[in-house]
Amino acid sequence: MPLVTSKELFKKAYNGGYAIGAFNVNNMEIIQGIFEAAIEEKSPLIIQVSSGARKYARHEYLIHLIQASIEMAEASGVSIPVVLHLDHGDDFEICKKCIDGGFTSVMIDASKYPLAENIRITKEVVDYAHAHGVTVEAELGKLAGVEDDVKVDTKDATYTDPKEAKEFVDKTGCDSLAIAIGTSHGAYKFKGEPKLAFDRLKQIQDLLPNFPLVLHGASSVPQNLTDLCNKYGGQIPGSRGVPEEMIAQAAKTGVCKINIDTDLRLALTAQIRKVFFESPAEFDPRKYLAPGRDAIKELVKHKMRIMGTSGKA
Ligand code: G3H
Ligand code: 13P
Ligand code: ZN
Repeated sequence: MPLVTSKELFKKAYNGGYAIGAFNVNNMEIIQGIFEAAIEEKSPLIIQVSSGARKYARHEYLIHLIQASIEMAEASGVSIPVVLHLDHGDDFEICKKCIDGGFTSVMIDASKYPLAENIRITKEVVDYAHAHGVTVEAELGKLAGVEDDVKVDTKDATYTDPKEAKEFVDKTGCDSLAIAIGTSHGAYKFKGEPKLAFDRLKQIQDLLPNFPLVLHGASSVPQNLTDLCNKYGGQIPGSRGVPEEMIAQAAKTGVCKINIDTDLRLALTAQIRKVFFESPAEFDPRKYLAPGRDAIKELVKHKMRIMGTSGKA
């Protein structure tokens, strides 16, 4: 199956009460681990590339690795629908480059601007993307935490306003919307008890029925992963991620896409640390990257089960 847009996948996810995991990729091992999981779970997949990942790996390399993975899946008899998505596109230019370069979905993140400017920038991307058969995710509201090149203070974090969300979607024609309901990027999401504003999610849903919503900053930062990193020389404080029950609940409530990056980083890094801790003289990259790739596969399989996409390919 060639790359697909998010349109049909989101429709099925919405109606089926599940959410598709969107996993950030930066190199071959991460891509392979994610695909191995999707093949075993027979799950649809969103692979996302941030501007940082584009700078690091060049998106041409990532696209070819993803295409090779799709071919390998087909050869093994499993046809997985895969969306290739730009994560947090800053402006029209980067979105255009990705659309022209073969992405099937882009995110324009103009959430740092006032509403009217966010609408104007998003609409420009939507017009270009739709003319090229590509779907668009936009963002409204501010997540707390650290994004690529954009730092947002926790105190400035604001939830998405439901009425603004409705106006935003009507005026821009975007295909999905990332909302702020308490999640944040990175490993430190909550100071105290983890809490998502499900009442706010419901209010947005009521005004935008059948419309796919997106959750960024959704890593759970599981205690076992931070423990593993720390056991082998890390200094990551206790778990402050989104509990898995909340992820499962969001998936059943109109959230169709759930973004995971931090948990992948933790899974990979824990294994690399372990190899160096146990074998400080190791210098064959295959010896420390292969266990990282296996850990990514297991983590992604677990996420697919939590989000409900296993068997939905
Ligand atoms: O939301 C941001 C993603 O985790 C991507 O992170 O910009 O460091 O690649 P990055
Ligand atoms: P996490 O940092 O919680 O993994 O969120 C990733 C994300 O939202 C990518 O856009
Ligand atoms: Zn994000």
